[in-house]
Amino acid sequence: MTGKKLPRVNLPPDVRLDTLAVREGLPPSQWGENSEALFLTSSFVHPDAATAAARFANEEEAFVYSRFSNPTVTMMERRLAALEGTEACIGTSSGMAAILLLLMGLLKAGDHVVCSQSVFGSTIRLLQGEFGKFGVQSTFVSQTDVAQWRGAMRPNTKLLFAETPSNPLTEVCDIAALAQVAHGAGALLAVDNCFCSPALQQPVKWGADVIIHSGTKYLDGQGRVIAGAVCASEQLVNEKLVPVMRSAGMSLSPFNAWVVLKGLETLSIRMRAQSEHALAMARWLESQAMVERVYHPSLPSHPQHELAMAQQSGQGGAVVSFIVKGSRAGAFKIIDATRICSITANLGDTKTTITHPASTSHGRLSEEQRLAAGITQGLIRLAVGLDDVDDLKADLARGLVALAP
Ligand SMILES: Cc1ncc(COP(=O)(O)O)c(C=O)c1O
Repeated sequence: MTGKKLPRVNLPPDVRLDTLAVREGLPPSQWGENSEALFLTSSFVHPDAATAAARFANEEEAFVYSRFSNPTVTMMERRLAALEGTEACIGTSSGMAAILLLLMGLLKAGDHVVCSQSVFGSTIRLLQGEFGKFGVQSTFVSQTDVAQWRGAMRPNTKLLFAETPSNPLTEVCDIAALAQVAHGAGALLAVDNCFCSPALQQPVKWGADVIIHSGTKYLDGQGRVIAGAVCASEQLVNEKLVPVMRSAGMSLSPFNAWVVLKGLETLSIRMRAQSEHALAMARWLESQAMVERVYHPSLPSHPQHELAMAQQSGQGGAVVSFIVKGSRAGAFKIIDATRICSITANLGDTKTTITHPASTSHGRLSEEQRLAAGITQGLIRLAVGLDDVDDLKADLARGLVALAP
């Protein structure tokens, strides 16, 4: 609960993103703590039975039970909403729980969704499999071809869902163009902003209605917790999402909310540094003989380079993918030769992570589906952290040299 009637932090009205990132939330408690308090409590005590009844009936705004209201969670929600530029936000137990909450809140049997075919695999399975079971239809279209999105619209289309840049090939979609398609048909546009975070990209500025986050990634930024959030209007959050949260309970734990809240304080500085490190790595990889192709939105060779630079504050983000010669054996050789990069499928950490998408994050797809998504066996994804760039180059050079004929 963003808690519209709860007290606000005493900030001037025109403070900028970096100030909001360290200060927005709730005022301190009666003890005047400077770092935000962690309210690890399941429930809240009421002064008398009549007040408890008024609070349960939503006649008086107060914290009641941490499945749907907790001050630490509210602080995280207010701060993230301020960064995304939305009126409200609701924290969830994971990024997938955020998507589940949104779909449950907005859709009913007979409704239709148009979704990019390049979104996170579990998002596709959730829509096609689980929501398909309950009579929600979905059409999957090219991330970058607006005509396909327009052509897939039906009278019962309620939601368009995109993720930009996409994982792992960093395909960028035109948020403003998709918002026009959605609004022209009375539908909403949701954007998964996991890869850029609000430090680089605020999708509402380009017309998106709903922002999805996996807080597990850059918002925490240090690989510690699983968390998620949906940012949108007060009306959408309070009328469509809060009732589902109250009944279904995909709640964000106060502890994880606190970790994400503190992560948001360094988000902007981390995103810019990691994005610059990623570009340095991308340029270096492009010069390597054993590398066939490099994907990073800041490279002029990226197919949506100009759009990405306009939409993402001139930054490419921290993910670089590249195809090496020698297919799977070549990719494995490079991954196995690293001593610094963490071999893991997670991303958004200060520690650089290295992944072979075809056998991990996209391992459950058929080879045909993988090829349609551009995931070849020689593809490696690097989610660049704050490690020294020269150390990272040396870490990859070891395998690249061993691969050379
Ligand atoms: C773009 C994107 N969205 C959503 C998710 C799901 O987030 P979580 O793992 O927090 O459920 C992920 C996870 O990797 C992701 O990469």
